[in-house]
Amino acid sequence: MNTRIYDLKTEYEQGLNEAARVVAKGGLVVMPTETVYGLGANAADPHAVRHIFEVKGRPQDNPLIVHICDISQAWIAAREISPLAERLMRRFWPGPFTAVLKKSRLIPDVVSAGLETVGVRLPALECARELIRRSGCMIAAPSANLSGRPSPTRAAHVIRDLYGRVPVILDGGESGVGVESTVCDLTGEVPVILRPGGITAEMIKEEAGDVRIAHAVLNGLAEGEKAASPGMKYKHYSPKAKVTVVEAENADKLANELNLLYDKNVCQGRRTLILCASDVAGLLGEREHKCMGDTPEQIAHSMFDELRLADENGIDEILFEATGTEGMGLAVMNRVIRAAGFDVIKV
Ligand code: TXA
Ligand code: MG
Repeated sequence: MNTRIYDLKTEYEQGLNEAARVVAKGGLVVMPTETVYGLGANAADPHAVRHIFEVKGRPQDNPLIVHICDISQAWIAAREISPLAERLMRRFWPGPFTAVLKKSRLIPDVVSAGLETVGVRLPALECARELIRRSGCMIAAPSANLSGRPSPTRAAHVIRDLYGRVPVILDGGESGVGVESTVCDLTGEVPVILRPGGITAEMIKEEAGDVRIAHAVLNGLAEGEKAASPGMKYKHYSPKAKVTVVEAENADKLANELNLLYDKNVCQGRRTLILCASDVAGLLGEREHKCMGDTPEQIAHSMFDELRLADENGIDEILFEATGTEGMGLAVMNRVIRAAGFDVIKV
């Protein structure tokens, strides 16, 4: 298939109109959002949605998020929205917040993977909302990576994974947040975070008074445990390199452990990269490392890009500094411990 790539900086009108036309006709397009790039199709068209699963190689039991361009459309996608759910949607939309609500009959089963609920999101990026508006339908979209690969935060990542498999890629530059939206179950009395993201547990608690974090966010599923969010059960966000997360009480201990692990690897001929924050960057000597920033927000912004880059550079093992689980740290840890297959070294 011939893939057309539009740079929204210079080809905004042409790109959006073409993408909207493709979506309206039942095709697939890649759209930028403030979190990660999405692979979208008309949410009401089961045939188009099935095609998303095929192109990504996504397991059939993993539901898709429905993207809307106006808060009122939530009442089309959902059949019941509690006052608390509405309050949270008003507070955090548009933005990286996905509300899991009881689904309406307009949402095909293939979108919700047979669940009674649907994830609904109003993205903050204006061009994403404009695409939804122009296509005249709600857009179901998972992240635009091949299943199992890190989510794409740049058009170049999408081109690597999906070039020749989709007719249109809209290049909206680098995603701001860098990790996917917070998925929050709003069907009960207390909001439950199924996947942490740009809207933090602390922010939700401030608005709702209470919040719960699903066990699977930081833990693998126990044998036989059912995932509240099916996406949690897959080994996600995996680069080809082995990933090891290292956590320590202070920067000195952390640097000692990272240096030891690094040197051991190098003696065994394994190319190693340390991905860290600025607190230890100065304590690693000449060892190959990349400082992702000072804050969990900065780390979230660049982590998927760094994981992909490490693969391109033939890195065998990534040593990743744990961020802690406060604020955006929870979203970073949720992704990286999955990439690591839950292999966390604590010193
Ligand atoms: O930021 C994002 O959320 C991006 C952009 C493109 O919007 N989308 C995204 O979609 O990350 P995806 O499909 O890669 O991840 C959706 C996650 C999966 O873990 C899925 O299991 C969960 O949301 N999910 C979707 N609908 C759900 C539902 N009804 N109940 C529970 N979990 C749901
Ligand atoms: Mg995904």
